[in-house]
Amino acid sequence: MQIPKQLLQRKPVDALTAIENSLKQTLTAKDLTLLGVGGIIGAGIFVLTGIAAAKYAGPAIVVSFVLAGIACALAALCYSELAAMMPVSGSAYSYAYATLGELMAWIIGWDLILEYALASSTVAIGWAGYLVSFLDSLGMGLPPYLSTAYLADPARGFINLPAVAIILCLTGLLVAGIRQSAMFNFVMVTVKLAVIIVFILAGAGHIQAQNWADFSPFGFGGVLTGAGVIFFAYIGFDAVSTAAQEAVNPQKDVPFGIIASLLICTLLYILVAGVLTGIISYRELNVAAPIALAVDHIGMLWLSPVVKIGAIAGLTSVILVLLMGQSRIFFAMAKDGLLPPVFAEVHPQFQTPHLSTMMVGVAVALLAGFMPIEKLGELVSIGTLFAFELVCGGVLVLRISHPGLERHFRCPASPFVPVAGIVVCLGLMAGLPLDTWLRLLVWLLIGFGIYFGYGVRHSKLR
Ligand code: ALA
Repeated sequence: MQIPKQLLQRKPVDALTAIENSLKQTLTAKDLTLLGVGGIIGAGIFVLTGIAAAKYAGPAIVVSFVLAGIACALAALCYSELAAMMPVSGSAYSYAYATLGELMAWIIGWDLILEYALASSTVAIGWAGYLVSFLDSLGMGLPPYLSTAYLADPARGFINLPAVAIILCLTGLLVAGIRQSAMFNFVMVTVKLAVIIVFILAGAGHIQAQNWADFSPFGFGGVLTGAGVIFFAYIGFDAVSTAAQEAVNPQKDVPFGIIASLLICTLLYILVAGVLTGIISYRELNVAAPIALAVDHIGMLWLSPVVKIGAIAGLTSVILVLLMGQSRIFFAMAKDGLLPPVFAEVHPQFQTPHLSTMMVGVAVALLAGFMPIEKLGELVSIGTLFAFELVCGGVLVLRISHPGLERHFRCPASPFVPVAGIVVCLGLMAGLPLDTWLRLLVWLLIGFGIYFGYGVRHSKLR
């Protein structure tokens, strides 16, 4: 009867926080906020907004952004409480270990691969698409066998080389140091924010009220589906919590970074969506580069390449932050013995989890290079929503089991906020197609196989 007990065994919160930290602690509140913005603004706003407006919500996509933003804000407050209590690399995985036991922790760690590794592959493919179109416009296009994954188009494709190249370059940067990565992220975030602000200011003068006349053509149902689709645009703020072990003052600065980055991006998203649907009819937005299309539409041809550069910068920082998050979660899981110890190695000079980072980078590059994974985008959202629910649940559990623990950040209005977080995330999950649920189930079953084949016997807690 030893194994069933182990499955429910929780890791004491003190054991989580009393770790010997071999990672370099250099990130400030500003760095963490920029990492959040770096992880959030990307393919969601630059690619998905147009499709979601055209197919599901119409101009009321603005309301979809508000709704998805509220769901994320509820989860962000819960993340902040747990991250300030347990400032460790494992994020939701580690919080689940402390609150719901080892098996649940494994499930969430395995589930987070969908969020971080799968999303970084998907975004890298979007990045490659933008780059190829940019090169095309300069008359330097790439042949299909170098820009299309074999399994996406066996007749013409072989490898999506730009996607592989960007992932490997960013992996190298992450290995070299967290400080260098944060500095590069700063540059990318500055570029994308500048482009987005220019778009908002330049576009605002061209808004035509008639484009908003039919504000919600698909009714509230369409607004909700739209919220489920553009939820992807918000993913990434939680990656701030995976950098907690590398922060100078994590208890204060990680909650600040999570909440500030989410607030900034929510505001920008609402403004972009409003301007976008105000300057061009939502019916025309079913395209891969809606913002570039909109600036062409109002005759600002000079702004179109600028928007593409902004998108490339935005997608770059998203890939960087998600790769970082994935390597930190594997690092935490290996420290606990649930993954092989090689993932927990730290480079003596760079003080980064270099082997975990490299293995994640190569796996993500192979996925993006050869697989048709765009179709799996919804798995990213379902996996993330599942993690958000467990984090909200974790706040409730710890409030009951450890009421006296020092909370450097307290989620306000508990239990209302965590319960509302769970309900809203469940609602968004319910809106996703059945085959996405089935894929999640298959993924979790594979995870069970690995846990019972390896983790259960190597767990340090045992
Ligand atoms: N939120 C990220 C993006 O939109 C994943 O690209």
